[in-house]
Amino acid sequence: MTQNSTNLVDTARQLLAIESILGSDWLLPVSRNKNPLPPLQPAEHTSTATATAEAPSPTVGDTLSPEEKAAALAELNQSEVNNCKKCPLHQTRNHVVFGDGDPAAGLVFVGEGPGADEDATGKPFVGRAGELLTRMIHAMGLDRQQVFICNIVKCRPPGNRNPAPEEVQACWNYLIRQLEIIRPRVIVTLGNPATQNLLQTRVGITKLRGNWQRLPDIGNGLAGTPVMPTFHPSYILRRYTPEIRGKAWSDLQAVMQQLGLTMPKK
Ligand code: URA
Repeated sequence: MTQNSTNLVDTARQLLAIESILGSDWLLPVSRNKNPLPPLQPAEHTSTATATAEAPSPTVGDTLSPEEKAAALAELNQSEVNNCKKCPLHQTRNHVVFGDGDPAAGLVFVGEGPGADEDATGKPFVGRAGELLTRMIHAMGLDRQQVFICNIVKCRPPGNRNPAPEEVQACWNYLIRQLEIIRPRVIVTLGNPATQNLLQTRVGITKLRGNWQRLPDIGNGLAGTPVMPTFHPSYILRRYTPEIRGKAWSDLQAVMQQLGLTMPKK
């Protein structure tokens, strides 16, 4: 076999592997991400003015072992987040949804806020959108326990509305401290609320997705962390078109490249 035909066979194998994970209707023509990571300087951002970090946490994830990160996250959850009454969302919640996964993950997904299924179980992304996110993670050759998944707000906004700016503000310090402890190599923001708050911009997801961004200086040691904004899985489910799915998959492939992950082999 020539080098060219070996490459073709490899590519076909990889496509089949992904197809078996995502289902044939997920896998689509991919418009390759051509935008490199911007240089490491705080970019100019249009502030949404909703998101400012309170006092930075003294615990910096860089100096913590995986066990210490697990303990720091557990402590944050048990002593603060789980009893939080800083905004009215505590009155209607059944469970606080702190977040879940590897406390030392290189990759963190940030969503918007818990829905009904998450509120009922206390786990992030376990409903329909969660099923799709799980398939997307598997397509990257990872499982949920190898990444960390959390949300901008930890309690369910009634009726699945977008979290209000005061609710985001009340929860903000919890998210920042989670990120400070985990210190991921890459953050994927899912949809507008996560993207706009973390990047402190008013620019929408349609413009930002697929283009590498960097975190502004929102927490201890977090400035410059690479961020890939992509569509929220709920949006993908609502607009299940080849174009939307192809774009989301292309965003995830850029993340895989950044993390040095190869396509899963069958
Ligand atoms: N949507 C989100 O943004 N987060 C969840 O945890 C579930 C659905």
